[in-house]
Amino acid sequence: MTDFVEAGKASELEEGTKRAVEVCGTRVLLIGSGGKYYAISNRCPHLGGNLSQGHLQGTVVTCPVHGSQFDITDGHVIRWLKGSRPLQAISKMLKRPKPVATYEVKIADNKILVEI
Ligand code: FES
Repeated sequence: MTDFVEAGKASELEEGTKRAVEVCGTRVLLIGSGGKYYAISNRCPHLGGNLSQGHLQGTVVTCPVHGSQFDITDGHVIRWLKGSRPLQAISKMLKRPKPVATYEVKIADNKILVEI
């Protein structure tokens, strides 16, 4: 059963920023982008890279370890690993691309509530 749990204050997450938090034992990355708030897993689905240390541009976060990119709005893979096409093809055979987990977010009384 899932529930909405407070993960932070909306007023403390500025536009274009991200913050790693732990919600009920789950590592979550909160992101403010385009006037909205998003919550995704802080673990890259490739090999667990810390996405809070990656680059955020608009709604795209880049893993700092091997450069995979994910759309924070729905978690889909934009790029699976950075590198040449042959390297990417081999990498995809070894480990199939997987989206990053996303969580529903609600704002209530300045609280960022994440469905966990
Ligand atoms: S751990 Fe994120 S791309 Fe490899």
